[in-house]
Amino acid sequence: MVLLTGNKKIKTAVFISGTGSNLNNLIKFSKKKTSPISIDLIVSSNPKSEGLKFAKIFSIEKKIFNIKKNADEKRLLKTLKDKEINFICLAGFMKILSKNFIKNFKGKILNIHPSLLPKYKGLDTHKRVLENKEKFTGCTVHFVSSKLDSGKIIIQKKVMIKKDDTPKKIAKKVLVEEHKLYPKAILKIFNP
Ligand code: GRF
Repeated sequence: MVLLTGNKKIKTAVFISGTGSNLNNLIKFSKKKTSPISIDLIVSSNPKSEGLKFAKIFSIEKKIFNIKKNADEKRLLKTLKDKEINFICLAGFMKILSKNFIKNFKGKILNIHPSLLPKYKGLDTHKRVLENKEKFTGCTVHFVSSKLDSGKIIIQKKVMIKKDDTPKKIAKKVLVEEHKLYPKAILKIFNP
């Protein structure tokens, strides 16, 4: 676990691949007095991520890492070390990090997943939830381990499914809860 030193906030990088609504939300949270983290770097696996706009809006440094080869991860690790990043939040990040990468940030990488893990790991969660006629779904914040969506669960929130729900409608209401849950998870691990 990362320890808080004095009054300094923990230098954090957020990794994204898409829209970045969780990124936007985490940046806003990080600016609060009560937040243990500051967001010092945005890493995107996709140069066209919509979420990259938040780098400009909030004047936060951004880096693009495609992470296709080991060498890309090595460069990313070096960048994180150079910038003294001590904590990582994955937020809609669509790449799988290697065992070696995770080892370098052991217990210091969180992810948010739009299902009640361990159910519905991976992609297309809302579609599968509907196909299985589930009565509720939700979202989970967990530590990242080398197995996809399988690290220790920190916190979860249930969301009810209605008869006329579609994957899109579910995604929308789960996202509202994700935005509340990610800051809660961060507060929970730093102020247990
Ligand atoms: C979220 O639903 C997150 O749980 C999933 O991808 C989505 C990303 O949304 N992993 P955004 O890019 O944060 O808006």
